[in-house]
Amino acid sequence: MESGRVFIAVAGVWALFVTAHAAKPYPIDDSTGYGRTFDGIGGISGGGATSKLLVNYPQPYRDQVLDFLFKPNFGAALQILKVEIGGDACSTDGSEASHMHNSWEENYQRGYEWWLMLEAKKRNPNIKLYGLPWAFPGWVGGPTRDNPWTDPERPAYYVLNWLRGAKAVHNLTIDYLGIWNERMYSIPYIKLLRKTLDDNGFSNVKIVGADKKWEIADDILQDEELGAAVENIGCHYPGTFSDPSAMKTGKQLWASEDYSTFNDNVGGGCWGRILNMNYVNGNMTATISWNAIASYYNPLPWFRTGLMTAVEPWTGNYAVESPIWITAHTTQFTEIGWRYLRHGAGVGNFTGGGSYVSLVSPDGKDLTIVIETMSHDHSICVRPPLEPYNVTKQRVTFQLKGSFASITSLNMWYSRLFNGAVNVTGTMFERQAPLKVVNGMVQLDVAVDEAITLTTVSGGQKGSYPPPPSSQPFPSTYNDDFEGYPEHMEPNNLAQQTGSFEIIDVGSPHNKVVRQMVLSQPVHWCKAEGRTNRSINLIGNYNWTDVTVQMDAKVGEVNGSSGYFVAARVDRGGGESDQAEGIFLYIFPNKSKYHLSGDFEHKKGITEGELPSSNSDWNNVMLTVQGGTASGTYNNQKLFNVSIPANPKYGFVAIGTDSWGIVDYDNLMIKAKPVANLRQKPKDNTLYYKPKA
Ligand SMILES: *[C@@H]1O[C@H](CO)[C@@H](O)[C@H](O)[C@H]1NC(C)=O
Ligand SMILES: *[C@@H]1O[C@H](CO)[C@@H](O)[C@H](O)[C@H]1NC(C)=O
Ligand SMILES: *[C@@H]1O[C@H](CO)[C@@H](O)[C@H](O)[C@H]1NC(C)=O
Ligand SMILES: *[C@@H]1O[C@H](CO)[C@@H](O)[C@H](O)[C@H]1NC(C)=O
Ligand SMILES: *[C@@H]1O[C@H](CO)[C@@H](O)[C@H](O)[C@H]1NC(C)=O
Ligand SMILES: *[C@@H]1O[C@H](CO)[C@@H](O)[C@H](O)[C@H]1NC(C)=O
Ligand SMILES: *[C@@H]1O[C@H](CO)[C@@H](O)[C@H](O)[C@H]1NC(C)=O
Ligand SMILES: *[C@@H]1O[C@H](CO)[C@@H](O)[C@H](O)[C@H]1NC(C)=O
Ligand SMILES: *[C@@H]1O[C@H](CO)[C@@H](O)[C@H](O)[C@H]1NC(C)=O
Ligand SMILES: *[C@@H]1O[C@H](CO)[C@@H](O)[C@H](O)[C@H]1NC(C)=O
Repeated sequence: MESGRVFIAVAGVWALFVTAHAAKPYPIDDSTGYGRTFDGIGGISGGGATSKLLVNYPQPYRDQVLDFLFKPNFGAALQILKVEIGGDACSTDGSEASHMHNSWEENYQRGYEWWLMLEAKKRNPNIKLYGLPWAFPGWVGGPTRDNPWTDPERPAYYVLNWLRGAKAVHNLTIDYLGIWNERMYSIPYIKLLRKTLDDNGFSNVKIVGADKKWEIADDILQDEELGAAVENIGCHYPGTFSDPSAMKTGKQLWASEDYSTFNDNVGGGCWGRILNMNYVNGNMTATISWNAIASYYNPLPWFRTGLMTAVEPWTGNYAVESPIWITAHTTQFTEIGWRYLRHGAGVGNFTGGGSYVSLVSPDGKDLTIVIETMSHDHSICVRPPLEPYNVTKQRVTFQLKGSFASITSLNMWYSRLFNGAVNVTGTMFERQAPLKVVNGMVQLDVAVDEAITLTTVSGGQKGSYPPPPSSQPFPSTYNDDFEGYPEHMEPNNLAQQTGSFEIIDVGSPHNKVVRQMVLSQPVHWCKAEGRTNRSINLIGNYNWTDVTVQMDAKVGEVNGSSGYFVAARVDRGGGESDQAEGIFLYIFPNKSKYHLSGDFEHKKGITEGELPSSNSDWNNVMLTVQGGTASGTYNNQKLFNVSIPANPKYGFVAIGTDSWGIVDYDNLMIKAKPVANLRQKPKDNTLYYKPKA
């Protein structure tokens, strides 16, 4: 136990320390060489539609959010941006548009990942870009529409086109390409992809294998050609440990998707711990957060598991959460290409718990030491489980040796996520007085749940803007005639869950409309989508109960869907295991029938009937749901007024198609009974703190 307590002054900071925990100095030493090369810290946009609500943020708030993510020396200063290569199918929080919905066309204005990459590059020209498919359009999936690898030429051509579009249309150079997110990989495809890239002027594009666990390592050890094709191994949720086979390949090892944890201060603790421990335990040289920014409706799956949160384009409200500042502790004082010091010479665990990593600039002159002392219960990530361990406050002494022996002072940046057992206030990324280095020795007292950077780099900035507008619920009256968009964009706030919806100019009188583009079942990624052939697109507020939704719609003359719907009280999106329920008014123009159903699959029929005759392709449909009744009209003629099931009680508004195929939508109008503001407040972190009895 504690053998004594002494108050000492360390660089002007009074701190309590416990002599029992004072350990031998930890050497920081380059004289025996370096460890691995640092490949950066990044975030993922996609997998899927995680940036959807950021796109139409009002300025200046949109730029502010982008600055917190990407601007060097400001916030997270991300070094890698990994994006989804949209595949027209659900990939968790929605579906992202493919550049080739069909084999016979291509278009590089769809979706928002191009825009996001351009914004990131504008702020940091050195940011690395990494593309990865989650789903593929059906034609890439071959005859069975579920296996992209039956003919590797197809996916290689598809991905090559994406790279070409990035370059030709947006002047974007992609640095890394993945295979298929968390699904089977094909060795023949990986080899063909390498050859295709090399033959087409993309030999600079490196392949990451295989965005699953470490399984590709064994294949690489047995297959030299595969080893030559794959630049590095990307594992998801490695739990800070790599695998002996992966080490044996000699490849750079990445946590190419990690984190996924609610972004309160426990999330910040998780992120701080794994950023260090992925190298300390696993020799991983890059860690990429799913997701970069939580910009999808509450409560779609994994709400707020991004580095920060921006879910209100209608107000501009956003929240910079602790993972932004935890990221800054490393990214603001390093660059890709810096080198880690060796284990035991600048990298390791502290004896009292916690860890440190040291990184050195390519010229060997700059040194950055990142320390974390996250306690077990304040750094739990959602996966994998975290074995118990203890962290105590402790005095840490570093002994600077080799090239660093002459350093006399280190700049210091400090965060504390929790203040002992009481509530969090959280100190985030504060500059402290520099620490003196005396005869190569530097001492500091570290407490629990801290992140500290000691560095010779003099930059660093805790970027800030005036507070954004306050949070408000989604507007209860909402109209869009879709005239205000460039063609091929996705309409604002309509969060496509399955299928792909884009603005098309059909000429007078409707001009710009929203068109559902997907003609056949994609190579799906979300389970629920594999069991349907329908598209669904959500908008509004999950807590809406009473709502009127109205729109004009027209089934495509060619390749049209068998029908379409408007819906209210829709309880979920496409990324969950069960299909959505709600009140769905389906219109089948060709059969001249309507069907009111309690679910997306229209299996829970409520009422049905004949449509009044119509001379037009375009028809107006209106659904009102109020208390226990629903009423509907078609071209202002009454269809029904009936009792509806008590559940779901509330939910989103939605539009969509019955089968895959074209439907055009125009003049969407929503009027809802106002509800209280739903933005989930930061959780009370005391809930997470479970002191042992
Ligand atoms: C394309 O981007 C590069 C930097 O990556 C820049 O040097 C070049 O001028 C750009 N070309 C055009 C046409 O904008
Ligand atoms: C560091 O400490 C953690 C927690 O006790 C432990 O799981 C891990 O194996 C240690 N790593 C090394 C490299 O000593
Ligand atoms: C990481 O690399 C160090 C040598 O730099 C080695 O001692 C350690 O065993 C490696 N870790 C793993 C998990 O292979
Ligand atoms: C943590 O400390 C407690 C109390 O000293 C001890 O009972 C427990 O075994 C320790 N846990 C680990 C994983 O060392
Ligand atoms: C901790 O938080 C709770 C709920 O927010 C509050 O009631 C309480 O006063 C706080 N306690 C301290 C010590 O700040
Ligand atoms: C979807 O449509 C395809 C082709 O029309 C059909 O083979 C498949 O069974 C359908 N899937 C479901 C779940 O209905
Ligand atoms: C309709 O589908 C066929 C292939 O089935 C395709 O050749 C044609 O271009 C499509 N037309 C439109 C307008 O989508
Ligand atoms: C619906 O009817 C139109 C015109 O009668 C026809 O061109 C189209 O192929 C039909 N669509 C479907 C899905 O049956
Ligand atoms: C539907 O019927 C209820 C009574 O059952 C009535 O209160 C309501 O006004 C009707 N709505 C419409 C749109 O006719
Ligand atoms: C919707 O309202 C209910 C009841 O007020 C509340 O418990 C729930 O958290 C709200 N939903 C969301 C997504 O905030």
